[in-house]
Amino acid sequence: MKCKRCRKATAAVELRSHNAAFCPDCFFIFFRRQVEEGIRKQRLFSRDDRILVCVSGGKDSLVLWDELLEMGYDAEGLYIGLGIPGYSDRSKEKVIAFAEARGKKAIIVDLRDEGVPIPEAARANKKHECSVCGAIKRHFFNRVAAEGNFTVVATGHNLDDESGRLLGNVLHWQKSHIARQHPLLAAAGEGLVRKVKPLWRLSEQETASYAFLKGIDFVIEECPMSEQATSLIFKEALSIIEERMPGSRMAFYTGFLDPGNPVREAMAKAAAESGEFEPAIKDDGSPAGTHLCDRCGAPTLAQTCGYCRMKAKTVERAAQDAAKSATGARAASGKEPA
Ligand code: AMP
Ligand code: FES
Ligand code: ZN
Repeated sequence: MKCKRCRKATAAVELRSHNAAFCPDCFFIFFRRQVEEGIRKQRLFSRDDRILVCVSGGKDSLVLWDELLEMGYDAEGLYIGLGIPGYSDRSKEKVIAFAEARGKKAIIVDLRDEGVPIPEAARANKKHECSVCGAIKRHFFNRVAAEGNFTVVATGHNLDDESGRLLGNVLHWQKSHIARQHPLLAAAGEGLVRKVKPLWRLSEQETASYAFLKGIDFVIEECPMSEQATSLIFKEALSIIEERMPGSRMAFYTGFLDPGNPVREAMAKAAAESGEFEPAIKDDGSPAGTHLCDRCGAPTLAQTCGYCRMKAKTVERAAQDAAKSATGARAASGKEPA
C-alpha cells in the first residue's frame, strides 16, 4: 500500500480512524500536526512556557518528551521512582538512557528516599496501590514544578486513556469527575501549576507507532499493581466499538470537549449543588479558598495536605515494623525473650 499523503513511499502505518495510511516521514508530519492542533485548540501552552514533562518510562510520556523537544519547546523530564521492586528500576533505566541520548538529565524523585514507596504507603493507609500512587504522583508533579519555576506540568495521557476515562465517568455518572475531566487544568491559586495532556488527540496505536519508528526504547510491561485496573476495561470496550466504527473514540472525546456541548457545565453545576464538587476557580475567576499545608506548604483544602497525612502513617508503620523485627531478631539470637 502506498502512503496516502505523498503517494510515493510505501505506507508503514495504517490509521483506520483517519482513513489514512502513511510512510514514516508522512506519519511524523501527521503526528506533529495532531500535537500542534491539540495544543492550539485547547490553548495548553505557548513558546514562553517552561514545561515539566512527567515521564514514567512508558511509551506515551517518552514520545511526548521527544516530540516537545523536537518542536523546540523548553521541556525537562521528571521521573518518580515508585519503589515497586523490579518494575521501578527497569523504568528508571529507560528514562535515564532516553534523556542521556538527547543530552538531557531527568529530574529524579525516589519515593523510597521520601519515605513513601507505593507498596508500603498503600499498606499503611489501607488503600489500593493505584489510588495512593495517583495522589502521591500528583503531589510531586506539582511540587517539583512549583519549586523549579515550571509554568506547566505535562503528562502522556493519550486519546485512549482520556476517552476510556470519560466512558467510566459517564457509566457511573460521576458528575464532579466529568466536570473536571479536560486536557487543560488551569493553575488555580498559589503553588498550583497548570496541568496539560498534549497527546489527547493521539491514540495508543499512534504513540506506539511513533515510538517504534523512532526506535524509542521504553518499558513495555505495565505496572504490576495496575493489572486489575478497571480503566483497562473501559479502554477495551471502546476498542471494540472503534474496531467496528473507526473514528468513534475521537468523536466521543472531541464531542465532549466541544464548547457547544453543555454536559461539562451541567455536571459541574449539579455536582456543586449536591456539595460533591468544590470548583478550583470561583464564579468571579478568583481561586477557591485553598491554603497552604502546615507541613509541606503544598496548596490544600485541609490544614494538612493528603500527601503529608499519608506520609505520616507510612513512616509510623515503618517504624513499628522495624521495632517488631528488631525485637524478633534479639529473641532469635537468644539475647532477650520475644
Ligand atoms: P498512568 O497513570 O500510569 O497511565 O500514567 C499517566 C501519565 O502520568 C504518564 O503518561 C506520565 O506522564 C505520568 N506518569 C506516570 N507514572 C509516572 C512516574 N513514575 N514518574 C513520572 N511521571 C509518571
Ligand atoms: Fe501507580 Fe502502578 S500503582 S503506576
Ligand atoms: Zn503537605
